[in-house]
Amino acid sequence: MLFSLMSEPFTQEQLKALVGRAALAYVVPGQVLGVGTGSTVNHFIDALADIKDQIPGAVSSSVASTQRLQALGIRVFEANQVGTLSVYIDGADEIDGQGHMIKGGGAALTREKIVAAQSGRFVCIADASKKVQVLGNFPLPVEVIPMATQRLIRQFAALGGVAGVRLKDGQPLVTDNGQHILDVRGLRIADPLGFENEVSAWPGVITVGVFAHQKALVCLLGTEQGVQTLMFP
Ligand code: A5P
Repeated sequence: MLFSLMSEPFTQEQLKALVGRAALAYVVPGQVLGVGTGSTVNHFIDALADIKDQIPGAVSSSVASTQRLQALGIRVFEANQVGTLSVYIDGADEIDGQGHMIKGGGAALTREKIVAAQSGRFVCIADASKKVQVLGNFPLPVEVIPMATQRLIRQFAALGGVAGVRLKDGQPLVTDNGQHILDVRGLRIADPLGFENEVSAWPGVITVGVFAHQKALVCLLGTEQGVQTLMFP
């Protein structure tokens, strides 16, 4: 088989490309598709171009994905133009054994959660380095209203987390929604659902990057042995 013949281990980029193409099997012909954001999804979008005539188009979770989809001739719909989407395909920064994820490394977490909530089935595509026992090693992204930043940093400190404003070119990064991102280090998120509920209720939090309510139902994991399919009932 192809993989055992390869002498060199796959690079992370090759694993991302592998699962990006494997996700084509989850595209439902004739239906609008939800599309996430990130380097793994970029591989998926590139592969999707090969079968673009089979779908009316996509709902995108970021300006970056919208631009990539449109450049490849794939129509992009606004979320409000369509009803429930059957499938949403996106990457993750971490995924645990129940399909809970940390997302937002690309700062697109709010729109990702919105499109995921509009979709019936979240298909996660990730290389094997993203699979963890407990969420929290990856700094947790949280999109926030800027005037709440210092109070939220103190609230995370009370949970044992060290939060900092994400910077770009020395200035706070501004999201597609015109807001800021806090990255929180030092958390161990053993109860993702409870954590998401708690932090989502803090005033000034727009979106916490724990996806427990919108967890993955399937994960295509890129490993040295090929694509492993994990199902999360
Ligand atoms: C974007 O905001 C994120 O949620 C991405 O889905 C996540 O960071 C995975 O990105 P990569 O595919 O680039 O690793």
